Amino acid sequence: MSAIESVLQERRVFPPPAAMTASASVPGMDAYLALVAEAERDYEGFWARLARETLTWKTPFTKVLDESNAPFYTWFEDGELNASYNSLDRHVEAGNGERVAVIFEADDGAVTPVTYSDLLGRVCRFANALKKRGIKKGDRVVIYMPMSIEGIVAMQACARIGATHSVVFGGFSSKSLNERLVDVGATALVTSDEQMRGGKALPLKSIADEALAMGGCEAVKSVIVYRRTGGKVAWDEGRDLWMHEVVANEPDTCVPEWVGAEHPLFILYTSGSTGKPKGVQHSTGGFLLWAAQTMKWTFDWKPTDIFWCTADIGWITGHSYITYGPLAMGGTQVVFEGVPTYPNAGRFWDMIARHKVNVFYTAPTAIRSLIKAAEADAKVHPKSYDLSSLRILGTVGEPINPEAWVWYHENVGGARCPIVDTWWQTETGGHMITPLPGATPLVPGSCTLPLPGITAAIVDETGQDVPNGQGGILVVKRPWPSMIRTIWGDPERFKKSYYPEELGGKLYLAGDGSVRDKETGYFTIMGRIDDVLNVSGHRLGTMEIESALVANPLVAEAAVVGRPDDTTGEAVVAFVVLKRARPQGDEAVKLANELRAWVGKEIGPIAKPKDIRFGENLPKTRSGKIMRRLLRSLAKGEAITQDVSTLENPAILEQLGESA
Ligand code: WT7
Repeated sequence: MSAIESVLQERRVFPPPAAMTASASVPGMDAYLALVAEAERDYEGFWARLARETLTWKTPFTKVLDESNAPFYTWFEDGELNASYNSLDRHVEAGNGERVAVIFEADDGAVTPVTYSDLLGRVCRFANALKKRGIKKGDRVVIYMPMSIEGIVAMQACARIGATHSVVFGGFSSKSLNERLVDVGATALVTSDEQMRGGKALPLKSIADEALAMGGCEAVKSVIVYRRTGGKVAWDEGRDLWMHEVVANEPDTCVPEWVGAEHPLFILYTSGSTGKPKGVQHSTGGFLLWAAQTMKWTFDWKPTDIFWCTADIGWITGHSYITYGPLAMGGTQVVFEGVPTYPNAGRFWDMIARHKVNVFYTAPTAIRSLIKAAEADAKVHPKSYDLSSLRILGTVGEPINPEAWVWYHENVGGARCPIVDTWWQTETGGHMITPLPGATPLVPGSCTLPLPGITAAIVDETGQDVPNGQGGILVVKRPWPSMIRTIWGDPERFKKSYYPEELGGKLYLAGDGSVRDKETGYFTIMGRIDDVLNVSGHRLGTMEIESALVANPLVAEAAVVGRPDDTTGEAVVAFVVLKRARPQGDEAVKLANELRAWVGKEIGPIAKPKDIRFGENLPKTRSGKIMRRLLRSLAKGEAITQDVSTLENPAILEQLGESA
């Protein structure tokens, strides 16, 4: 296919399949537009209707949106509910206790189904155990766990007793875990002896021990350990407890703690443009409403569906579309412990075929790496598997390039499954801009249109709307129920980051650049406009990586930028000045590897720079500001077009053009 033909192909429009429209929760564009109009006509009435229909309330709310303390908006504030009751009890009470909630597949392929009744019993036992350790409503519990039933149980048990959980992804380092334990003021930590990924056992408990020993988190009185592998662990008698032992004699019932809708369900850390990660605080009512509602709309959830979201519970996608959304709907989902390439790169396709998955939700990075593997080996090509159960495909976390979209559509979806390219963020709690499978005509590479009630728009630097076809800053004009409530412990930073004065103080700033199509109004996301990178769908702050690098005793100065990457979307490139002479040849390679390992230890393996460049200096303006645009060009290997006349030592450009 010629380049021109491939561009033409990418401009194809894919209408929803007629059969899907006929049975969809939003059956066609007219139905979508009617919902949009309903929200426009009576914004609060629209959200109140959804909140009454989708959730079960202990005490009905009488207030909907309160804007009196903007931008600290509240929703359904005088209503009371419990997220765990909504996820479990109500389905058991409705007679669906024997329905499978989770089909857990371990790294080694062992499959364990868990019914709603089972899961409720396990959550209650663990909730009782937490209470026995003195953990109560409002306390913060950090969860540092592998993908497991026990991880979901821990989160749901916190929700049941009104404790606020903060899950830390199992790939984060002891230092990152320590920072989060300290910032959130945790009183308990739930972890695991080890985690299994791709046939390898990786330590968690020993990293947790290191994190606790770093200090500042003396409030952590209990460390509860799930025994996954039986690997050797150090033990602190007064503090450490085995999960299976603490639940052994607990009853399998536990009255849920009814909480106000604004009660913080969880705090999840994410990277921002400054060094310190932000603790994004979410509510109980608004968050849960949107996690469930978007299951209905975006994934057209049906009671008979087998749903599979491949994310980790350590990220927002795992919170909204594993722990809460699918369970709140009473759905059946696959939960996977392992990695897509073990025992081979056909693992996802094999699992879809064996579990007869209907709705499959994954990241573009995973798709891109599996395309490469499939092209190299027909055995792991999706066409070698029976994927006829699939109905809907989804992507999340980063832009999907049209080539990968078309491949996913044809080879995984058999050219019959709509792809929902869902744009959202840790802060938004759930999907914001996404196609609806029975309604929206799809254009590869576009996340299409905002969900009903979501007032996404594109503005210029002063907050004025820009016409379609003109790029700008992506904002959300009105508050919505599942939005971030504040940054834990730092309300000023919340205001500054998300409701900046420059835009008038009333628009939610997403941090992405975007453009709307002239004819269709469809949104395309152009990537972050701040110093945040997106590597394999993971958010990383450049300043976070820079701080990690300069913490190394060898490093005098460091600057980090992103560079487009075929597989991971973006790759981390670090420009480093050492306190000693600029290394060359083997010495440079050795030091670059040392620095990579260092960043892995400081933050986690996901933050390791792919490319490290050593220079005697960094390019700076006369006022001493690092010329980042220049560094971005150097990272891409582009010709330098910027004015470099102010550079004191232009020879460094040549040095910084060379990878170690
Ligand atoms: C950032 C949010 C969404 C949950 C997982 C990531 C980028 C997310 C898309 C998409 C293009 C996307 C944005 C956003 N992003 N989804 N469909 N198309 N870009 O959550 O770690 O909070 O990252 O991911 O840049 O701001 P997150």
